[in-house]
Amino acid sequence: MAKERLIIFDTTLRDGEQSPGAAMTKDEKVRIAKALEKLRVDVIEAGFPIASPGDFEAVRAVAGTVRDSIVCALARARDEDIDRAAEALEPAAARRIHTFIATSPIHMEKKLRMRPEQVIEAAVHAVKRARRYTDDVDFSPEDAGRSDPDFLCRVIEAVIDAGATTINIPDTVGYTLPHQYAALIRNLIERVPNSDKAVFSTHCHNDLGLAVANSLEAVLAGARQVECTINGLGERAGNAALEEVVMAVRTRQDVFPCDTRIDTTQIMNCSRLVANITGFAVQRNKAIVGANAFAHESGIHQDGVLKHRETYEIMRPEDVGLSSSKLVLGKLSGRNAFRSRLKELGVEFESEEALNRAFQAFKALADKKSTIYDEDLIALATDQLLEEENERIKLVWMRVESETGETPRATVTLNVDGEERTASAIGDGLVDAAFKAVQSIVALPARLELYSVNSITGGTDAQGEVSVRLVHEGRAVNGQGADTDIVTASVRAYVNALNKLRSRALRAHPQLSAI
Ligand code: KIV
Ligand code: ZN
Repeated sequence: MAKERLIIFDTTLRDGEQSPGAAMTKDEKVRIAKALEKLRVDVIEAGFPIASPGDFEAVRAVAGTVRDSIVCALARARDEDIDRAAEALEPAAARRIHTFIATSPIHMEKKLRMRPEQVIEAAVHAVKRARRYTDDVDFSPEDAGRSDPDFLCRVIEAVIDAGATTINIPDTVGYTLPHQYAALIRNLIERVPNSDKAVFSTHCHNDLGLAVANSLEAVLAGARQVECTINGLGERAGNAALEEVVMAVRTRQDVFPCDTRIDTTQIMNCSRLVANITGFAVQRNKAIVGANAFAHESGIHQDGVLKHRETYEIMRPEDVGLSSSKLVLGKLSGRNAFRSRLKELGVEFESEEALNRAFQAFKALADKKSTIYDEDLIALATDQLLEEENERIKLVWMRVESETGETPRATVTLNVDGEERTASAIGDGLVDAAFKAVQSIVALPARLELYSVNSITGGTDAQGEVSVRLVHEGRAVNGQGADTDIVTASVRAYVNALNKLRSRALRAHPQLSAI
């Protein structure tokens, strides 16, 4: 018998972006949205259009790009929010409006200052307004986990009557335990008279480390949509991690009465892309996508896996798109092999020119590094995309000098708006000296808030992948760079972030101050 569909609603671009420091540019959001489409998520929540002009533009750009997933926009239960969401979603092939209002006593009294009857009225009005624009309307009673179940039943019955097709039950503050959250969902489905006219959905935050457990228990209790994010990115401790939910359901098909349409081989690509763009590195022992998730260290385990893989492995690394770092291409590989391997890895170039540039960079890397792994290819392709973003400031050349007992010095030449400029500086280390040289050329007093280096593969000739976060006048941007030379990678990342700060598409933080 065919299994029921479990709908995967990805909110990396909306709730994920609400992580302090994870703000993304429009182009970054579009890149992630394309990767999510390839992953075959059913719904992509692209943002909160009323929050800022930048958020509006990003939702519109995602709506104009994605074709195989429904594109969703968030809106408070207010006319202006819903109209703005609908406007941003105009170019979408399939669109959804997600409207919400808080239903817990503490939120209604202290935040909204509304009586329960007024909240029901506003919720019904919002759903009806959203239905003018689309017949796919998702309604969330915010802080449902701490709401009175009798009141929730009344609100949900009313909004389904008004046309809501998905009822999402947020555990906004990550307070519930798995058995409680599952009982809440079961109870609502049983008690709301018209519950059969909507899909019930989970939305769990990870404050107690229970977001995935809560979501899975709720699926067993009848929920058929899970709202989640790549790498569990999200407000505070994050949201339920998409990759964990999907792989738990896929691996335990003996227990779950439903399955997703996710192409799990795209999971690693999405995870790396989101980590790279946001600068939020994935912890090594994170389930599914951590560097150690499939590494067997103990002799007994290694011996067992070699004799029969399933002795210690419940999933295959290739099922999540892990290539086990095999040598894929070498110095003598041609352009076609390069293009088709990257295509298999989910990277496609928009023009022959971009492909040619990436291929030249590959040849240069192959000269420096004897073995080229899939991870190197992805970093290289990402670097080419970043180069395209670096419209105003480009790294031309640099030299660093370091000697025991001497102060490190760096000399950097940048091309700024078509003009080459050079500066030297000393610093506490080579990276510090190089950053100071760049700063003295660009003269933008941005504060460095994060600097992280990650080795892409093993070995001393591995490429280093650097993320930096710069903050200027309340605006935070992330920059990335990769190179076999860590100082060059660092300067590339710094220059990438400066380009974003200089870009005209200024955006405020997406989260509204007074929701
Ligand atoms: O956590 C939450 O309550 C939310 C809602 C806007 C759905 O993100
Ligand atoms: Zn949330």
